[in-house]
Amino acid sequence: MSVIRSTVLGCGSYLPERVLTNAELATMVDTSDEWIVQRTGICQRHIAAEGEVTSDLAVAAAKAALENAGIDAQDIDTIILATATPDNTFPSAAVTVQEKLGITHGAAFDVHAVCSGFVYAMTTADAYLKTGLSKRCLVIGAETFSRILDWEDRTTCVLFGDGAGAVVLEAQEGEGTLADRGILTAHLRSDGRHKDKLYVDGGPSSTKTVGFLRMEGKEVFKHAVGMITDVIVDAYAATGITSDDLDWFVPHQANKRIIDASAKKLGIAPEKVVTTVQLHGNTSAGSIPLALDTAVRDGRIKKGDLVMLEAMGGGFTWGSVLLRW
Ligand code: ACO
Repeated sequence: MSVIRSTVLGCGSYLPERVLTNAELATMVDTSDEWIVQRTGICQRHIAAEGEVTSDLAVAAAKAALENAGIDAQDIDTIILATATPDNTFPSAAVTVQEKLGITHGAAFDVHAVCSGFVYAMTTADAYLKTGLSKRCLVIGAETFSRILDWEDRTTCVLFGDGAGAVVLEAQEGEGTLADRGILTAHLRSDGRHKDKLYVDGGPSSTKTVGFLRMEGKEVFKHAVGMITDVIVDAYAATGITSDDLDWFVPHQANKRIIDASAKKLGIAPEKVVTTVQLHGNTSAGSIPLALDTAVRDGRIKKGDLVMLEAMGGGFTWGSVLLRW
């Protein structure tokens, strides 16, 4: 049976030039390289330059993805940008990206699911492509979390960084089997009862300010592994695929302990896990496409490989996307 598959044509990423190491952070707040590495696996993160905004990061990642895909920006009909740190409250950062890429046709919009944003955006793009609403979709995850961090709060400011990644998806005909390239299954979840465990204490309609990120780290940690494994088990149930069949596991990069515990619980071999959190910190919606692009460019992820993406974040929101690269 012929089906439409949302197939990756290419990917790209962008990191701001400025690197902030743990050692430098230790001069700013009461922390140490040893504490940060032991609890999170993070060694450094990138920080956007003054005046460098989320749409700038997104455009740089998008241009790299378009080049990697070998297509022109004019061939894109839909831009879906996952971000919790848009340039402005409105318009969406996606329309600024559209304008900066010189595209005047089609549609562009933001998806807001914090750290799960890229998985939500990929799933939304998949629905658009499968239903014929779009033929070629640019899916971006881009964040400047440095702008919503309380740089005096050592419990949060050591965890996050800025960055962006993007993929180009195209609607292609598949056989309807698991051998098809493209997105094979996607599963999204949220549960707003947890919204106060990880949030920003400002907003246009409440405080009329941007606010700072606040988090009950232990509570997030407690729920993360269970939620992540649930949506991956959903993907296995929908397809019959198991951890042994996966070529690569590309999780949201929040904390190495969460990544390792999830892989262990699911029986995914450590050598299949793509980990970039040590270099990028948690870049929220940017983290999965940054990790994907890293593993594609260093030759690990190849055409035809079976790749599992997963994320969990504020809301809580969580989800998985299983695709054949
Ligand atoms: N440097 C040094 N000490 C610190 C720091 C720091 N940066 N931050 C906290 N501490 C201290 C605490 O004050 C506490 O001291 P005390 O024992 O004297 O009170 C001690 O370290 C232990 O603090 P805990 O909060 O219990 O440390 P924990 O082992 O839980 O690690 C962490 C904290 C890393 C935040 C962990 O809970 C975690 O990773 N949670 C998941 C949160 C996460 O990854 N969020 C990302 C967003 S959500 C997502 O993307 C999934």
